[in-house]
Amino acid sequence: MSHDLREFPMTDSNFEHIRGVAYQRTGIVLGDHKREMVYSRLARRCRVLGVTNFDEYIHILESSEADELSHFVNSITTNLTSFFREGHHFEFLLETVLPEVFDANTATRRVRIWSAGCSTGEEPYSLAITVHKFLKKNVTRYKGWDVKILATDLDSNVLSHGRHGVYRVAGSDGLSAEDRREYFDELDQGNEHELIAKDKIRSLIIFNRLNLLHKWPMKGQFDVIFCRNVVIYFDKETQKVLFDRYANILKDPGYLMIGHSENLHRVTDRFKALGGTRYKKVC
Ligand SMILES: C[S@@+](CC[C@H](N)C(=O)[O-])C[C@H]1O[C@@H](n2cnc3c(N)ncnc32)[C@H](O)[C@@H]1O
Repeated sequence: MSHDLREFPMTDSNFEHIRGVAYQRTGIVLGDHKREMVYSRLARRCRVLGVTNFDEYIHILESSEADELSHFVNSITTNLTSFFREGHHFEFLLETVLPEVFDANTATRRVRIWSAGCSTGEEPYSLAITVHKFLKKNVTRYKGWDVKILATDLDSNVLSHGRHGVYRVAGSDGLSAEDRREYFDELDQGNEHELIAKDKIRSLIIFNRLNLLHKWPMKGQFDVIFCRNVVIYFDKETQKVLFDRYANILKDPGYLMIGHSENLHRVTDRFKALGGTRYKKVC
C-alpha cells in the first residue's frame, strides 16, 4: 500500500475502485499510467465537494450516484478534438461517400450521418460543412432531402458546448479562412474573437447525450458513422461489441471512419478496410 502525502490522499484501493467505476460506466480503461491524470482531474471535484481524501470522495460517488456520477464521467473523459481533424476523411466523404449514399437513397430522400463521441462539436460541424458543400454543388438534384447529422457524447459538458456552437478563433486552426467566413459569424469579445456557427450548418445537426455502451434509442439506420478517437480508450471486448452494433445499424452501402491510431484488426470482420482508417460495411 502506498502513502500519499498530496492534498487529497489516494490509496491503491481508491484508484482500483475509481477505475472499476470508470470501466463499468463508460468502457474507458484507466491503466496505471493514467493514475496522475485521474488524480488531478478528480482533485478538482474533491475541492468543489469540500472532501479531504478519496475515501470521502468515493463515498459521495457511491451514495449520491446521479449527482456525482455525471461530474465523475465528465472529469475522466478525454475530449481533445479539432475542426477537420484527419482531413482525408472529409475529402473522402465529399468525393466518394456522399455521391454513393445519396444515390442509394433516392427512394427515401433521406441521409443520416452519426458522429459518435462528438466531444465539443468540431467533428459534427466539420461534417455539416462538408454536407452543405455537397448539397450546394448538387442543389437541383437533392433539394428538399432530409439530411441530418446525429452528434452524441457521454459527457454533458462537451455536448452543451457543441449545442452552443461557439468557438475561439485561436482554437479553430482546422478551418480554412473561406469556411470561417462562409459558415461562422465572428464576434469581437475584446481580446478574444469568437466564431458562432451559422444556422445553415447548425440546422443539420442534432446533439444528444448517449452512452455507447447502453441501449441506443435511434430507430432508423445510418449511412455513415464517424467514431474517431473514442475506442482507443476501450478494451478489445468492448470494441468487438461496439463495432458489431455499428455494422448492424449501418445501411448497405455504409461507411465507418475511425481514429488514426485505431484499427479493426482482430476486432471485427464486418468491414472492409479501404486504407487511411476508412471502412465500408461488408455484411
Ligand atoms: C478524444 S474525443 C474524440 C472527439 C472526436 N470524435 C475527434 O476525433 O476529434 C473522445 C470522446 O468520446 C467520448 N466518450 C468516451 N466514452 C464514451 C462512451 N462510453 N459513450 C459515448 N461517448 C464516449 C468522450 O466523452 C469524448 O468526448
